[in-house]
This record gives sequence, structure tokens and C-alpha cells, in this order.
Amino acid sequence: MQAPPAWPLAEPRLRIAPSLLAADFARLADDVARVEAAGCQVLHLDVMDGHFVPNISFGVPVIEKLRPHSRMFFDTHLMITDPLGYAKAFAGAGCDLLTFHIEVAPEPRAVIEGIRRLGVRVGITLNPDTPVSAIAPVVPEVDLVLVMSVWPGFGGQKFIEHAIDKLRELAGLLRPDQRLEIDGGIGPETAGRAAAAGADTLVAGSAVFGRPDPVAAMAELLQSARAATGGKQP
Ligand code: DX5
Ligand code: ZN
Repeated sequence: MQAPPAWPLAEPRLRIAPSLLAADFARLADDVARVEAAGCQVLHLDVMDGHFVPNISFGVPVIEKLRPHSRMFFDTHLMITDPLGYAKAFAGAGCDLLTFHIEVAPEPRAVIEGIRRLGVRVGITLNPDTPVSAIAPVVPEVDLVLVMSVWPGFGGQKFIEHAIDKLRELAGLLRPDQRLEIDGGIGPETAGRAAAAGADTLVAGSAVFGRPDPVAAMAELLQSARAATGGKQP
């Protein structure tokens, strides 16, 4: 087993992870370079298979081609029915972390171990109607927990309020070396509330790449998250 590199998401805790889903697919490398040049360290990659979710986005070949253009941490959200079956291909394409949905993993430990064996980080996520209790037994074994604050499949949806309660509950379960990520409907207002509830990694698609100035948009999101945590999160 290949040892993963030292946890690259240690500090600062509070980060914006722009979602490539809202980028210009005809100019991916340009959009990625723009946010990276502004200091962004994490890129959120939304992989959809048209089966687990009713939409198809991009997969291994796109990520593989993008990898040489960026040093950012490739935070990959697998919205696919068979995460373990494709994990090797995504790790080989250069993903740094693979997050799978508990809804497709009746035996989550097997998925976690299978992903770890590939030498990449592991995340687990849950749909808006899945309770925290469904993942609680394996939470100590992952590097990151992703709370879905919209139904997976599409960008630009409205933030589901119940996600705030889930963040609070999970924040109480996680160790300092684990990350708590929120995904869906993040804008300046929800970024602040999610951060105050314990989220440290804030995924934003339309609120970054959907804006005329993605760099200014990221700065604005980070500023509201920082303000809401009163500097408690470094
Ligand atoms: C939804 C994806 C999200 C999406 C978020 O299925 O997991 O990452 O890109 O988009 P916004 O930020 O526009 O809600
Ligand atoms: Zn996502």
C-alpha cells in the first residue's frame, strides 16, 4: 500500500473549494488556473454517472487531462453507483481524495479500505434525507465527511436548511484532523452559517464560477465564513 502524503488540508481549516461543475467546460484549464493563481488549494470535482443521480457530468478522462495543469488538491465527489469499481481509475487519474455516498455502500468499510489501498484519502457523504446515524459507525475511519445541502445531481439549487443541524451533529463527532465539508447552495449568507455550524471546507459552484469575477466571489465567501466563525477557525 502506497502511503498517502502528509494531510495537505491541515491548515488553514477554513477553505472555499470551487466546484468545477459550474466552470466553463470549453475552457476548464483557464478557469482552474484563475482560482489557483488566487491561492485556492482545493478543487471540488463532481462526478455523475446518470444512474445514482439523474445527470452526467465528467469522469476519468477529463480529470486525467486536467491533472498536469494544476497542483490543487483534487477533492472528488463520486455521485456514482459503484464507487469501489471505479476507485482505481479515479486514483490513477490523479484524484487526491475520493468521497463516496453511503446510499450506495451497504458495506462502507469495504469501500473505505479499498480506496485507502490505492493511496488516496477517503471521504464519505450523505444525501439530504440520510441521517447522520447512517454513517456514524465509520466516521472515525474517514478523512472527510461531506454534508449534502442540496440533492446531488445539479448545481445552482437552494440550500436545504436541515444540513445545518447535520453539520452541528457531525462537528461533535469529528477529530481535529478530519474535515467537515458542505456542498450545495453555498453563497455569502449560507457560507457564514455553515462555517458557524462547524463546516471547514465550503464547496461553491455557481457562487464562484457562475460569477463574472470568480476570484472576488471566493474572497467574499471566505470573508463571510471567517466573520461568522469570529476567527475561531484558523
Ligand atoms: C451537486 C454537486 C455540487 C454542485 C454545487 O450535485 O455535488 O458540488 O456543484 O453547486 P452550487 O454551489 O451551485 O450549489
Ligand atoms: Zn459535489
